[in-house]
Amino acid sequence: MTVSEQPQAQYLKDYTAPNFSIEHTELTFDLQPLNTKVTALLTLKRTTHENSALVLDGIDLQLIELEVDNTPYSNYKVEGEHLIINDLPHACQLKMVTKISPQTNTSLEGLYLSGGAYCTQCEAQGFRKITYFMDRPDVLSTYDVTIIADKSFKQLLSNGNEIDSGETQDGRHFAKWQDPFKKPSYLFALVAGDFDVLKDTYTTKSGREIELALFVDKGNLSKTPHAINSLKKAMQWDEERFDLEYDLDIYMIVAVDFFNMGAMENKGLNVFNSKCVLANQETATDKDYHTIESIVGHEYFHNWTGNRVTCRDWFQLSLKEGLTVFRDQEFSSDLGSRALNRIDAVKVMRTHQFSEDAGPMAHPIRPEKVIEMNNFYTVTVYDKGAEVIRMMHTLLGEVNFQKGMQLYFERHDGQAVTCDDFVAAMSDASAIDLSQFKRWYNQSGTPRLKAIQHYDQEKQLFTLTVEQSAPLNQPDNSNLHIPFAIELLNEKGESTALTYQGEQQDHVLNVTEQTQTFTFDSIESRPVAVLLEDFSAPCILNQQNSEHDLLHIMRFARSDFSRWDAQQQLFIKAVKEAMDAPEQAKLSDNVITALRVLVEAQSGDLALIAELIKLPSFDTFAAEFEIIQVDEIITITTRFEQQIATQLASEFLSCYNSLVDDGSINANAVAIRALKGMCLHYLAKTQNDEVSSIISNAADSSNMTNVLAALSAVVKASHPLSGSLLNHFDSQWRHDVLVMDKWFALQAMHADADAIDNIKALYEHPSFDFSNPNRVRALVGSFSHFNTSQFHREDGKGYELLGDLLIKLNAINPQNASRMLTPFMSWKRFDETRAKAMKAQLQRLANLDGLSADLYEKVEKALN
Ligand code: TRP
Ligand code: ZN
Repeated sequence: MTVSEQPQAQYLKDYTAPNFSIEHTELTFDLQPLNTKVTALLTLKRTTHENSALVLDGIDLQLIELEVDNTPYSNYKVEGEHLIINDLPHACQLKMVTKISPQTNTSLEGLYLSGGAYCTQCEAQGFRKITYFMDRPDVLSTYDVTIIADKSFKQLLSNGNEIDSGETQDGRHFAKWQDPFKKPSYLFALVAGDFDVLKDTYTTKSGREIELALFVDKGNLSKTPHAINSLKKAMQWDEERFDLEYDLDIYMIVAVDFFNMGAMENKGLNVFNSKCVLANQETATDKDYHTIESIVGHEYFHNWTGNRVTCRDWFQLSLKEGLTVFRDQEFSSDLGSRALNRIDAVKVMRTHQFSEDAGPMAHPIRPEKVIEMNNFYTVTVYDKGAEVIRMMHTLLGEVNFQKGMQLYFERHDGQAVTCDDFVAAMSDASAIDLSQFKRWYNQSGTPRLKAIQHYDQEKQLFTLTVEQSAPLNQPDNSNLHIPFAIELLNEKGESTALTYQGEQQDHVLNVTEQTQTFTFDSIESRPVAVLLEDFSAPCILNQQNSEHDLLHIMRFARSDFSRWDAQQQLFIKAVKEAMDAPEQAKLSDNVITALRVLVEAQSGDLALIAELIKLPSFDTFAAEFEIIQVDEIITITTRFEQQIATQLASEFLSCYNSLVDDGSINANAVAIRALKGMCLHYLAKTQNDEVSSIISNAADSSNMTNVLAALSAVVKASHPLSGSLLNHFDSQWRHDVLVMDKWFALQAMHADADAIDNIKALYEHPSFDFSNPNRVRALVGSFSHFNTSQFHREDGKGYELLGDLLIKLNAINPQNASRMLTPFMSWKRFDETRAKAMKAQLQRLANLDGLSADLYEKVEKALN
């Protein structure tokens, strides 16, 4: 492509306020698959004095008519993706009629058909594929929406309240919706289809009755109770913890099969990926149940953090996403296990987010430069964004944090604001200075911390020196304000009081300088320090703990998260120490003993035990190396797993047999299934008749968690049963695409040399569909993320498979293509052979005709 055709970047520093406001928006949709007519009537007002042109955004629209104040108007031009209208009066009504083609729209952005139903996805900039508009989040408008469609589309839905419906003269029907709340265009939604509906109600704490409705494809009602229960729990939790109530009289959720992300918080009308809604015990795992609860919560919480107070511009995305992820994490933690939720969140940070931050797409949680906004719905903006909110929560405490939230809503309800506005509310409400803390919004990369401990037996003094070093490419005066939580354990494993000269010290240390020393006295013996307790800041902590200290922390830390964290460090240490002789890798007796104690205990938090006996993921180990030693890590971890499986075989067997799963969905049963699943994982590596019969029974269970535990155990162990069990699963579940996604993901895990051919053959499977992101991610996403040995084959065949797919997806769905590209972004972290093969795929894409902006931005960054 020539330079002028190259997608152009936008910069945060160039923000200017809009020159018009759109006071009110009236939309009429005449729905036809290839020829939908959209009539837009915008009530416009100038916000500045000069006679500047109105510039509207629009993509793939056919403009049929344009009128100003009921009179045809011709003083406009269409230039690329803009409609420029000159000499408009100070206030006027602009009418535009455009045509669009939902059926041929495979991007899943704008108005499209998903399995026969019309639906929309407007965030971030999809509204411009529906009609010409100021498609930016700081233009807030009220909407009246009329939908006209054939009667086969039984439900015609949009935001807000239904105010009219009826038949049209030509035998079709219509519905009219009105949303009383001003909103940006990205929160607009329309759905038309023939769904089954689950209805319910929720009474708010002030006594208002809210109508709840969940729309799903016909035949799926048995999979709806969990989502609706999750919604009611979320509504109640937000009232209790944040004092926030729902505002409209109706809350609708629609589940669709074709969707790029998890779900979308459109005002009063959420649209969900069906995999984030539908669940029953036969078809969904306990993990699916958890995901559904958290995403239903997440979208609900957006009603205040995102919708009532929205973003001034897309650079501020973390304002709503970081905050809403923090809220959904707290929701899950208050309802379930705080430790396990923290473990999950930190896994995401240490693997995906740290690797994004170390690669060419590294950006601050508030990016400064964007080519394609869809590329910035990232683990950095979402998850690191949530960590930044969590640090403020740690620094302020719950009471002050809630005061800050109240002040934020008092000041900004109904507005489009910035991250600075949020921090100002937090700081003003608490009288805590957050000026240094705010650097977290500007700095990309992962800060590194070094902790040096010193104990003086004679003086009974313990000193801890913490050094922070800025990530690469950051100015060196940019010390961050880091809340650094600690616990000191004595020999018996008890928590030691933190005092200095008679004064109690807070367990959260404020690290604000490059090097800082903290001293504690009256410490009777050398303590074992638990550092960065609960992952109190999103940093890489370099600590050289001995195996003894890590085992001590793993046993005694008051934070279950930190116990798990010590376990992770223990295995990382073992892998590093085995690097010189991978073929001889062996875990120490002390580690095996610690694991044995856990498996034998069968008491306490069983779900935590399951995590504590699980080896860290490949990505966790990979994060520890500048150049990722693929073969060595695989060899070592395979040997460790085999050793654990062999040495603890009888313990796993008796643990498995003694735990009774009552098949319910309560926390205890979930924990039992988690631990039994881990037992199966190891047992499958010791092949004997008893194990085979246990596996066959589990695979035959009517509970999907058990079935999947069995199947994944045999696939990962290359157990002889895997072929027959997988075939059986296929014949049993072909009618259910969401369940087939689990099967595709299992197929992608085959570590055998024919994995690539197997995947190519599965492209022809009747359940597979390149235009459905769930299918593509299940098969190829699982392959590229989890089938390490085959994806990273030295001959480059794994990379070629992904390269071929990306070329195909570029034309179908650029957003999905761009997300699937992620594994290539860290090509520089691999050895020469692999790096070269990955780079070749990136170059193939760079040379592609019609490369989408989504892929262009990432490919260009990866190569330069
Ligand atoms: N705002 C959505 C969420 O976090 C994210 C989302 C859904 C999205 N669909 C999208 C973002 C499509 C970009 C494009 O809940
Ligand atoms: Zn969100």
